[in-house]
Amino acid sequence: MSDYQIIDTNADNIGNCGHCGNRNAKNLGHRRKTNWLRKRYAEGLRYKVLRSEKFGDVGMIEYALGNQAWRPVEAEGYLVIHCLWVYGKHKGEGLGSLLLESCLEDAKKSKCRGVAVVTSSDSLMAGSDLFLKAGFIPVDRIIGSSEASAAPYELLVKKLKKTAPDPRFIVERERLLKRYRKGLTILAADQCPYAAKPVERIVEASRTFGLEPKVVRVESAKASRELPTPYGVFSIIYDGKLIAHRPISATRFMSIMRKNTE
Ligand SMILES: CC(C)(COP(=O)(O)OP(=O)(O)OC[C@H]1O[C@@H](n2cnc3c(N)ncnc32)[C@H](O)[C@@H]1OP(=O)(O)O)[C@@H](O)C(=O)NCCC(=O)NCCS
Repeated sequence: MSDYQIIDTNADNIGNCGHCGNRNAKNLGHRRKTNWLRKRYAEGLRYKVLRSEKFGDVGMIEYALGNQAWRPVEAEGYLVIHCLWVYGKHKGEGLGSLLLESCLEDAKKSKCRGVAVVTSSDSLMAGSDLFLKAGFIPVDRIIGSSEASAAPYELLVKKLKKTAPDPRFIVERERLLKRYRKGLTILAADQCPYAAKPVERIVEASRTFGLEPKVVRVESAKASRELPTPYGVFSIIYDGKLIAHRPISATRFMSIMRKNTE
């Protein structure tokens, strides 16, 4: 492991880092994520990059304080992991465990109640295996329940204070679905660098259905936690119905829309 270093990023050094496997600093999602991160450090967000001398950036972990989490959970006093990712061929060498360990160490140092994480077998999320092996336990579960995927999402926790209350999901679907009951609305936060391109492409694709979507940039942790999705930072709502709860391709969007407009 001597080839690897965990870099604690901040507003000054983040410009040099790859995001979630994307090293192209000119890419729209990458640029937006960098700006998003620069606003988040003051809120206590941690974004750590795993750097190899030989391969460059090979993984990352991002987590926030419970009351600043961009995931739909009530987790006051916990650290909430947004993302854990080891890229491509570097998986299976203990690097994910290394990143997770550094988050657990932070939680201990900061005297937090523990660490919580949303997991899923769905795309753009880490699965539960690594966390279960590290002693996390499931405390809540919710189904994806949009046409994009019905894969369940699980909330796992590793408590450092045994008597602390369990964190829980707070996915409140009805209020936001009512607000966007007419037409097509895409809600996306810059937290996920893989949301920007799909939003542009979905806007273009929706015109083939004669629709002009409303695009809402989700600008705060609170607004993100109010989205009707366990994923937290992305939703597509069509006539008051959730049709995608995480970023999807324009092709997938077109196929969902064809079914909805038949
Ligand atoms: C979940 C994830 C982070 C795990 O990372 P990882 O580096 O592969 O995890 P580890 O190597 O620490 O552990 C994985 C396995 O390797 C084993 N392992 C640990 N140390 C090892 C070592 N030195 N050599 C070989 N294997 C090792 C672990 O025991 C574990 O075994 P298992 O396969 O029986 O479960 C990784 O699979 C991943 O990035 N998935 C995609 C997640 C994603 O989509 N994220 C985007 C959301 S933001």
